Amino acid sequence: MEPDAIERAKVFWEGAHAAAEHELHDNIFRHPMVQAYASLQAYGSLVGQLDALTVAIRERTRPGDEILTVCCGPALKERVIARALPDRRFVGIDIADGVVTKASAEIAAAGIANLTVEVGDANHLQLRQDRFACVLGLGAVHHLQNLENFWQQCRRGLRVGGSLIAEEYVGPSRFQWTEAQIHEGDRVLREIVPAEHQGHHTSIRRIPIESMLRADPSEAVRSAEILATCRASGLTVTAVVGVGCSLLQPVLMHQIASFDPRNWDHNLVLSRLFAEEQRLLRAGVLDHDFAILVAVKGS
Ligand SMILES: C[S@@+](CC[C@H](N)C(=O)[O-])C[C@H]1O[C@@H](n2cnc3c(N)ncnc32)[C@H](O)[C@@H]1O
Repeated sequence: MEPDAIERAKVFWEGAHAAAEHELHDNIFRHPMVQAYASLQAYGSLVGQLDALTVAIRERTRPGDEILTVCCGPALKERVIARALPDRRFVGIDIADGVVTKASAEIAAAGIANLTVEVGDANHLQLRQDRFACVLGLGAVHHLQNLENFWQQCRRGLRVGGSLIAEEYVGPSRFQWTEAQIHEGDRVLREIVPAEHQGHHTSIRRIPIESMLRADPSEAVRSAEILATCRASGLTVTAVVGVGCSLLQPVLMHQIASFDPRNWDHNLVLSRLFAEEQRLLRAGVLDHDFAILVAVKGS
């Protein structure tokens, strides 16, 4: 990305991480029913995201190993995982320097000695050969424009047998929803979602690219190319687990906060959306827009 685009992304995320309500409205996975829906698709049971990641990292690394986590923001997830795996060392990087400074102070104050966070641009990584046992991308890789360099740096920085674990939005780049997403999204907004949950939008619109570039030029910049570029990079893709959300995301983005997890009428609406999305995925009308990706560096 151009330097001014990096600067805009940085300013956007400094503000976004400081405003808790941004996440609440924007991130559909903040709702426990959506978390449960994703977990049931990925694991067939209710497993917390961080519990599953902790198990995966423990299995794929050894005591003393280093784990890199890119675009970590305030590293809230990494704080939990680092505490659960005190004999592994975690290094987080993010471009938002204010967020990194604050996170560093909080991590030190909390006594989490095996987690450091640094300012760094994941588009321009330069990793030491074979340094890391694992690279994590948690809602991260979809912010990267230079995917080819990122995957090559993963190949370089991972030791042989090391793993990349990413949990990502892999849907249409810059949220330019497909015709099917618009058609089906509009239909379920009419037929399933009551007006009280349509405070932000009553129909599905593609977000104008200019406004995305103005706000956060890193958002979903090449998300649709993540899987293909990873496959082409020479890393061995060992798992891609789709967790859907290609109907949910356009319908519920910025509206999820209107669903009270303790209100079973609201949960019923969500359940009907889950069933509808699954039907459309099975029929091939929609693709998975979120996925867990695991890739390994071969010999
Ligand atoms: C959606 S947030 C995810 C934060 C964290 N991984 C999480 O799951 O809570 C995306 C983060 O990517 C960071 N980011 C965007 N572009 C980046 C880049 N080129 N290099 C490093 N971080 C970047 C932003 O500053 C922001 O903190």
